[in-house]
Amino acid sequence: MTVLVTGGTGYIGSHTCVLLLEAGHDVVVIDNLSNSSEKSLERVEEITGKKATFYKCDILDTEGMRKVFSAHKIDAVIHFAGLKAVGESVAIPLKYYDNNITGTLRLLEVMGEFGVKKMVFSSSATVYGVTDKMPLTEDLPTSANSPYGQTKLMIEQILTDLCVSDDSWKITLLRYFNPVGAHESGKIGENPRGIPNNLMPYITQVASGKLAQLSIFGDDYPTKDGTGVRDYIHVVDLADGHLKALDKLDAQKGVEIYNLGTGVGYSVLDLVHAFEEANDLKINYKIAPRRPGDVTVCYADATKAARELGWSAKKNVVDMCRDSWRWQKNNPNGYEA
Ligand code: NAD
Ligand code: UD1
Repeated sequence: MTVLVTGGTGYIGSHTCVLLLEAGHDVVVIDNLSNSSEKSLERVEEITGKKATFYKCDILDTEGMRKVFSAHKIDAVIHFAGLKAVGESVAIPLKYYDNNITGTLRLLEVMGEFGVKKMVFSSSATVYGVTDKMPLTEDLPTSANSPYGQTKLMIEQILTDLCVSDDSWKITLLRYFNPVGAHESGKIGENPRGIPNNLMPYITQVASGKLAQLSIFGDDYPTKDGTGVRDYIHVVDLADGHLKALDKLDAQKGVEIYNLGTGVGYSVLDLVHAFEEANDLKINYKIAPRRPGDVTVCYADATKAARELGWSAKKNVVDMCRDSWRWQKNNPNGYEA
């Protein structure tokens, strides 16, 4: 089928493009390049020997999207495009609400006009808010503690309401846990602008000498070693979840929600030590105060995706650490020379 990938030059989008092309799909990408480089798609072509068609297009640009939908017979949309920095969303909430929510509304409007009614949407484990109920199942109550999280919650609601209003829409909401790792070729990976907010890119930049020291945010949480626990998932496994969700859309009624995680929690210190062992190097770190807004523990119950999509994560923490490091080592400045 022909799949439109919004945000397809980004981290998760580019890995998903690889798997879509390898599976024989035609891929059309739209991205405004606000947080990515078009070079990622050249690398996707090096890996797969196949080309995705790229349009520099904003999801706020209704006319621009109409042109893309006119030029291709799109069968389904995988919707990654969005702003994703939690701290930034607190500082500039209107930009986040406009980009993520208005952008999604305009995309849905154009999809409706062209009779394209199948979508897989990037949601996040952040919609579970703060809860002691672990592992997290899809039926738990949701809440948000940042404008970013609110945009995910609101878009989930908008997509659900749309499916209730018109049963010809089929939409899958994928709640990602903590994506890390990179394609094993080392050609594509996460390319954060400026100083990374997330743990794995921070670790790889300390390993490369770009950053001096990792600050571990808190060692006084009620966990086995006092540091926060998360469900890290390899980005290629995550990408594969999108293909499985796409395969099932035809048979689906309305909205379905799936957690994409491994179901296993690792502490910050676990991840640092796994990285050191997997790559035979040392990470300089210190213990720092807790980061405001962080939850203590967060990991998935991923049995619904296993049962209904036939999907489960295949790669382990060693793969995550090796592949993240290979990408960083080969591309110290990301996609820039
Ligand atoms: P990313 O920033 O690498 O990719 C997002 C892409 O969307 C970028 O290429 C960016 O340029 C593009 N984009 C943003 N606004 C746009 C707009 N208005 N029009 C067109 N393109 C636009 O991020 P990612 O890590 O690949 O995340 C993809 C999706 O998954 C996002 O929606 C994110 O919120 C969600 N998500 C990510 C994580 C994570 O940890 N990476 C976790 C949970 C959910
Ligand atoms: C963060 C976002 C979340 C988003 C997810 C994936 C916040 C509060 N949450 O999740 O909404 O869905 O990214 O993009 O930003 N850590 C350190 N030192 C660092 C960085 C992180 O100790 O320099 C710790 C954190 O305290 C946490 C763990 O590492 O315990 C993982 O952090 P991170 O990678 O930022 O992801 P989350 O906070 O889980």
